[in-house]
Amino acid sequence: MYNDSTFFNKLTQIRRHIHQHPELSKQEYQTTAFIRNFLEERNIRILESNLETGLIAEIGEKEGKIIGLRADIDALPITEKTQLSYKSINEGVMHACGHDLHTTSLLGAAELLKQHEKELPGKVRLIFQPAEEIFQGAQLVIDTVDFNGWSALVGFHNAPDLPLGAIGFRETKQMASVDRFYGIIHGVGTHAAHPEQGNDPIVTGSQIVANLQAIVSRHIPASEQAVVSITHTTAGNTWNVIPDEFHFEGTVRTFDNKVREKVLYLLEKIVHNTADSFVQKADLEWITGPGPLNNDLNLFKRLSSTFAKNKSNIVPMSSNLGGEDFAFYQDHVPTFFASIGTGKNFPLHHPEFLVDDAGLVYTVNYYLDAVKELLFNG
Ligand code: NI
Repeated sequence: MYNDSTFFNKLTQIRRHIHQHPELSKQEYQTTAFIRNFLEERNIRILESNLETGLIAEIGEKEGKIIGLRADIDALPITEKTQLSYKSINEGVMHACGHDLHTTSLLGAAELLKQHEKELPGKVRLIFQPAEEIFQGAQLVIDTVDFNGWSALVGFHNAPDLPLGAIGFRETKQMASVDRFYGIIHGVGTHAAHPEQGNDPIVTGSQIVANLQAIVSRHIPASEQAVVSITHTTAGNTWNVIPDEFHFEGTVRTFDNKVREKVLYLLEKIVHNTADSFVQKADLEWITGPGPLNNDLNLFKRLSSTFAKNKSNIVPMSSNLGGEDFAFYQDHVPTFFASIGTGKNFPLHHPEFLVDDAGLVYTVNYYLDAVKELLFNG
């Protein structure tokens, strides 16, 4: 394991700099400029792309296999509540998901790989991906990159609930699909004293919220996993008026595309049929997110044994109903994704979320180990 302390002290400073200057999804201009500058100073090739923020770089002089490493670079609309000397100076924006650590890890791996560029039997492509938090960045990369000829793409997420340096991954069902829906029930507004003169959308909407609970409990086998959550409803604005609309939104999480399709089908049916039974109309909008995150079987086998050989602390991981837009890459290139422990801490997206800089040794070596195995062997 590479653990030169001068090198990692320098990376720690970089991580803190990025932490102090977080930017929201699709607005990562300064972050991109910082990455570009870091890579250019080290003569690392930056590839042409249509990315407005984020960038793709390449290391390696020989024709051969192409291995991709991906890090997400965006932050969240959260006001930081830590006491750190390097806390966010961008009001209302915070690296509360540790993408500052991800970005820094890939920069660190890039510097070390560049030092061995002549020995690389193929190419390593580095994806500094924007807009992960809004599940759009992977698609932006896919739109501009031709993945033909790539043998693998490797990514990770920091995990505050895993011991420092532990690597957690599963062959399948690692993370859930993430779909979002937004609905409007169209009723007829009227005086609260005369509901018969209108058509109350609140009763319909409430019925819909209740009926949707039957999807998971009555239609999905208990052996499968799915979540349907209604997270936001609004209707009306006072006590004596029946409003004309009921708005609701929420999310669907599954680990299997067949289950996912079934939930989406039932949800649509229940919304429209319930509205119909109250003689009202519903509009329902789907915002399709990433699918379930699974690992490529071959990569899973090879990297499991690599990490085991290197005596990494591999921990069993339960399926996580959170999502990752890394899942979008699965349709284009064999992928591998792991969670890497940064020690017990506040959860992801918490305003006091912290990253342990000691994690950098493990995350940089994770990238290096993946390149060693996938580029040099087999
Ligand atoms: Ni994240």
